[in-house]
Amino acid sequence: MTLSPTAEAIRKIVRGKVLEREQLAKHTSFRIGGPALALVYPLDVEDAVSVIEAARSLGTRVIVLGHGTNVLFPDEGIDAVIIKTTMMDGMKTSGGQVWAQAGVSLSKILEDAMRRGMSGAEFMAGIPGSLGGAVAMNAGTRAGDMASVVSQVTVIESSAGPRVTHLDARQAGFRYRGSRILDEGMIVTDATMEFSLGEASEIKQRVDEALESRRRTQPTRLPSAGSVFKNPPGQAAGRLIEEAGLKGISRGGAQVSPVHANFIVNTGGATAVDVLALVEEIRLRVKELTGITLETEIKIVR
Ligand code: EPU
Repeated sequence: MTLSPTAEAIRKIVRGKVLEREQLAKHTSFRIGGPALALVYPLDVEDAVSVIEAARSLGTRVIVLGHGTNVLFPDEGIDAVIIKTTMMDGMKTSGGQVWAQAGVSLSKILEDAMRRGMSGAEFMAGIPGSLGGAVAMNAGTRAGDMASVVSQVTVIESSAGPRVTHLDARQAGFRYRGSRILDEGMIVTDATMEFSLGEASEIKQRVDEALESRRRTQPTRLPSAGSVFKNPPGQAAGRLIEEAGLKGISRGGAQVSPVHANFIVNTGGATAVDVLALVEEIRLRVKELTGITLETEIKIVR
């Protein structure tokens, strides 16, 4: 098969894998999204920089994707080069310090910390996704967030250069479900986390409790992207949506989960259009009833 000029140009300079016209539905937890021009798996930071340079010289947009657990892509696909970080999966530990590349899953980091009796990663229990995405959005639960453990982040500033920069935790500008990294469109390539020695049985208990609470309160079987909206200050988006009477409503194959109102689930064949219709309906009804404007936590790519 002959490759498109974009895929061809990228294949020439990257050492990792390149897929052309790849359906993004295969790469997102929502199971939604049309084809991308090219989907590239860089092997390391140099490879990622090469992809960005090549895309720039072709005038093509670049979007970074980890495990695709918090993102909605359009049904018609997107004229962009997608950098998928899952082949950047190196990890090194030294005492309480853990260095990992962007594509390592939070579950692997948690598993490793538990095996070594290190405490601090328990909040990661049940959070799907990759380290890079989790750092950029400061993923977390009430038990903790990435900001509580990350000490250093390496990023590619794609607008400048592209240039590789090291940020300490303060420079990363973490806040509730956000960071300067996200605001400025930087690409996380690796991060260093600090854990402390803990009591194995207590660590396991905290992890088990978090997993059990998730199983009880969240839809775990159907495809979704987790919490759709951020919790407004002092409020819970799930409660506001339930109180607006929206639990269980559906548009096409997308449904406001009857289990947790801040989840939209793909009950089969849901499109991005279906999900966006629900997002708008929820926003409108909650605004009418409470005056609160809900902000999305998931990343909607247009
Ligand atoms: N609630 C309802 N109806 C619902 C759902 C929730 O009334 O349909 C109420 C609950 O009873 C509770 C409150 O809303 O009083 C908060 O709900 P919950 O305890 O389920 O937590 P959450 O605030 O909705 C947050 C994170 C989750 C994380 C859980 C557990 C956000 C936006 N979400 O959810 O993260 O798993 O806490 O710690 O901060 C994610 O980010 O994708 C995610 C799933």
